[in-house]
Amino acid sequence: MEKAKLSTLLLRWYQEHGRDLPWREKGGAHHNPYAVLVSEIMLQQTTVATVVPYFAKFIKRFPTIQSLAQASLEEVYKYWQGLGYYARARSLHATAQAISAKGTWPQNLKEALSLKGLGTYTAASFLALAFNRPETVVDGNVIRIISRLYHLTEPVKEILPKIHKLAEDIADKKHPADYASAIMDLGALICTPKNPQCLLCPWQKYCQSFGKKDIEEIPLLKRQKKIEKKGFIYLIFNPRGEVFIRKRTEKGLLSGLWEFPWDDTSTIRPNAKKTDKSVTHIFTHIKLTLQICICQSDTAPMEGVFVAPTSLSDYPMSTLMKKIIKTTSL
Ligand code: ADE
Repeated sequence: MEKAKLSTLLLRWYQEHGRDLPWREKGGAHHNPYAVLVSEIMLQQTTVATVVPYFAKFIKRFPTIQSLAQASLEEVYKYWQGLGYYARARSLHATAQAISAKGTWPQNLKEALSLKGLGTYTAASFLALAFNRPETVVDGNVIRIISRLYHLTEPVKEILPKIHKLAEDIADKKHPADYASAIMDLGALICTPKNPQCLLCPWQKYCQSFGKKDIEEIPLLKRQKKIEKKGFIYLIFNPRGEVFIRKRTEKGLLSGLWEFPWDDTSTIRPNAKKTDKSVTHIFTHIKLTLQICICQSDTAPMEGVFVAPTSLSDYPMSTLMKKIIKTTSL
């Protein structure tokens, strides 16, 4: 995939379709750092639609970083009323005082991160949007877009570093401010969580999820809850002290491996005696707990063989069966 092509397509789309938001100036070079700071903190836990009127009133009352630094916290709270997460107001006020006292804006990640209320995401977005610094901004929108672009179906938590790397690889280092705004807008307007507007997407041609049924399930935000199953597993001994195993069919789960007979029904087979031992095993979508039962039988109860416990290692078995062997000290 041509990475430069991706950013060119996105920036072109942004020029035409990007949102006009009050803290933004398209074109990159002349962003007002104060407006960016206030909006980014407001947008941390609040939607754009809610923030817009609050932002307008806030900037009218506190038009510069100095005016905010000089105001009382009481008054700042008043203008924050209804936005929620009031720690943000406190942090913003403290940060305004720190910047105002220092007389300079933070110019790099280390300086930005030292300010209250700025975490990794906000520090990067502030530097990109306010000063056109080539920082890679990775928020929920970017995670969704990158995961879909490369059809990454693993749980997000497990692949965040990979997502960061891919986001960084395609980010436009020459137009960081516009690129950051553009990718946020792509996430807000086109690559939405539900019902994405793929037909209007500038990256459609390159998107590995385009046309796929699972696009709305990407990104996978939490590990799928496993289906819990319970059942019984049977150690069937013949009078010679050999134990019964059978071979699974070549199809499906654990195909072709040898196993002690088991099933996931709630009824125990007749003549079986429960032990107090059980084993739990996690398959892709299933958490299976099998209670271990002991039986005696002269003859094979189904297709399979009796083998001496010392020979069990000659038969390929799954981890689940190995757990059973270990638990029962066979
Ligand atoms: N969400 C966080 N920052 C944003 C911004 N600058 N524009 C739109 N949405 C955002």
